[in-house]
Amino acid sequence: MPFTAPDIGIDLGTANTSLYVSGRGIVVSEPTLVVVERDNHRTVRAVGDEARFLYGRSPEKLMAVSSIRNGQVSDFDMTQLLIRYFLRKAIGISYLGKPRVIVSIPCGMDDVNRKALTEAVRYAGARHVFLIEKPFAGAIGSGLPVYDPVGNMVVDIGAGTTDVAVISLGGLVVSQSVPVGGARMDEALMNYLKRECNIIVGRNTAEKVKMDLATAIPLEEPRSILVRGINQLNTSSGTVQFSSTQANEALKEPCEAILRAIRSVLERTPPELCADIMRGGIHLTGGGSMLFALDQYISEKLEIPVLLARDPADCCILGIGYLTENIQLVTPQDKRADK
Ligand SMILES: Nc1ncnc2c1ncn2[C@@H]1O[C@H](COP(=O)(O)OP(=O)(O)OP(=O)(O)O)[C@@H](O)[C@H]1O
Ligand SMILES: [Mg+2]
Repeated sequence: MPFTAPDIGIDLGTANTSLYVSGRGIVVSEPTLVVVERDNHRTVRAVGDEARFLYGRSPEKLMAVSSIRNGQVSDFDMTQLLIRYFLRKAIGISYLGKPRVIVSIPCGMDDVNRKALTEAVRYAGARHVFLIEKPFAGAIGSGLPVYDPVGNMVVDIGAGTTDVAVISLGGLVVSQSVPVGGARMDEALMNYLKRECNIIVGRNTAEKVKMDLATAIPLEEPRSILVRGINQLNTSSGTVQFSSTQANEALKEPCEAILRAIRSVLERTPPELCADIMRGGIHLTGGGSMLFALDQYISEKLEIPVLLARDPADCCILGIGYLTENIQLVTPQDKRADK
């Protein structure tokens, strides 16, 4: 039986969780989802991919539990269960020594939440737990020189949060996390469709509309698609022709909230680092940054170049992965969480 388990990285997202095993790469990429029975005992039926499959088939009998909300642990037991499940899936149970685990967190997480997450990961089977802010991991994952004496700005737009950080010399200089991301965009589309088109749609439909049609700036040649839902007026099923212009209007609020967060961080950034950012641009990571033309929208509003990472949704886990391969780089500050 091998003695020590390999170091492991976890990008614990609101929507998706990925695990990286040092020496092997990304081994798990599944929804951050646990489904339980709708009884008093909340008997767990499935986790991750299996949970999504099962929930899609019998939603009346099952309940989906989101253990992470806005990047924070919202259900301790379920988070622990979820991480234990993924750790087993990643490395099995054949090691005598437990692994060291690096986990992503939103910027500015307070000590209570850091402690709760650290405990959950420890109970799930980790020997040591290191916490790393998502934009820092995202910056490494997108190949930025985070340890150099230059300012790099990274905006990680996930499902639950947008994390903005200016990074220099291996640390965060200024940062902010706001509870706005892909999920808020889906909600904005659901609300708009209900209010303006009298059509009620579920989250999955809204997410699909976002991916297929929505844009952050109006298109020169607008497109439209047929959206199917429940007619609010007579509760029968109905369809509506929904245009990219309407989708753009619906997403105004979340896009502006992301812009405000970036502005607020820029305002607090020392001038020398601001000059670096003007030159090097703002780097977007996270699945939410794939909203069509969001990079162009931010660039036009701030008059700064904006670069979308090559694989935005994987930047964070790739950055954490790099740290698992080079664990000596995890600074003492990050080790504070390991108390
Ligand atoms: N092509 C696309 N256009 C718009 N949004 C997209 C696209 N592809 C994925 N997304 C959105 O990206 C989000 C998931 O991104 P990601 O996996 O980075 O989030 P997460 O890490 O789970 O969340 P968080 O970091 O906020 O906790 C979802 O809201 C999804 O709808
Ligand atoms: Mg994320």
